[in-house]
Amino acid sequence: MNNYDLDIRRLRERQGEKWTQYPDDVIPAWVADMDFQIASPIRKAIELRLSRSDCGYPVGVEASGLPEIFCQRVSERFNWDISAHQVDLFNDVVQAIYFGLLAVAGDGDGVVIQTPIYPPFMSSTTATKRRLILCPLVNSAHGYEIDFDYMRSQIDRTTRVLLLCNPHNPTGRSFTRKELEQLAEIALANDLTIISDEIHADLVFKPSGHIPISSLSNEVAEHTVTLMSASKAFNIAGICMAFAVFGGDNLRKKYSQVPRHLRGGVSALSIAAVTAALTEGQDWLDATLAYLQSNRDYLSAHARSNWSDTIHHSPEATYLAWFDFSAYKFSPDPCTFFLKHAKVALSNGARFGEPGQGFVRLNFATSRAILSDIVSRMDGAIRSR
Ligand SMILES: Cc1ncc(COP(=O)(O)O)c(C=O)c1O
Repeated sequence: MNNYDLDIRRLRERQGEKWTQYPDDVIPAWVADMDFQIASPIRKAIELRLSRSDCGYPVGVEASGLPEIFCQRVSERFNWDISAHQVDLFNDVVQAIYFGLLAVAGDGDGVVIQTPIYPPFMSSTTATKRRLILCPLVNSAHGYEIDFDYMRSQIDRTTRVLLLCNPHNPTGRSFTRKELEQLAEIALANDLTIISDEIHADLVFKPSGHIPISSLSNEVAEHTVTLMSASKAFNIAGICMAFAVFGGDNLRKKYSQVPRHLRGGVSALSIAAVTAALTEGQDWLDATLAYLQSNRDYLSAHARSNWSDTIHHSPEATYLAWFDFSAYKFSPDPCTFFLKHAKVALSNGARFGEPGQGFVRLNFATSRAILSDIVSRMDGAIRSR
């Protein structure tokens, strides 16, 4: 059995939220975890720690060596040259977003967000009492596009942050250099801090390629905090660790205003796992990305031939496919419809903001056999409506 032949009974033994949220007759294709086995260097690194009962307080960020390892990797993969002193560790990306919003904006200050969007972008903004400035991406015949003029028109003197998601969840866009340059120009012109969530950076399909917005110029870097993580690409979200890269010292200082211990620390096992992922996991990731790409193509082709009233753009990045089922008028919404009639658990598009009404997000990071089962269940539900 290879890593892509999965036994659904074994998956159901998992204790994470993906496989425990719904009863056993439902196939979960919602939260962004993959179903594949983790890379063996990661498993071995954790097992080694455990075999030595090496679960005491871990070493600090610098001594862990992770900032250097991270710098080397982003230089090789994204042509992005940064130094270790710019890098810090957080428990997770969403935590670092909250810190960023608290650090660089005040109550009522505006935060630019491109909807539809990964829901914590909106909840972090409202929970920290910042103001949502929603700039919907435009769903054109060629795919999702940015309306730069609209964005400019929404920014005022109390707008402080561009909370960027690139690659973008849920649309699967990997923004081009030209798009990033225009976004950066808007940010600089309005003195916005860019908090750039690039958690899906390693999951970009050719011919697209990931460009960290901070790599565009020194000036852009000085306005940017970049957030990355091994969690999506290496399927270790429950291990909990994220990297923050401060393009300017002023941003690091602002983040440090909150006492460090309030962030919690990264764990001994996360240091072991992420070190192994970044130093020995590339073969696994390359193979996984190829498999994901073939799943993506299969799914897009299936949608084109069988769900002809659906609007769908094949994602350039991520293992999340975004479908507009609004033309089918499923009641009360497509997500509830497919859960009830297909026994497939998808993410409800409405949670991604107003433009997501009538949409679902489908996680295709599973075996082809399970993915085929998902789509044939959905076909059956559509036919029997
Ligand atoms: C864009 C984006 N940011 C952040 C996260 C969550 O990251 P973390 O678990 O590190 O908070 C996800 C998870 O799916 C995501 O898609």
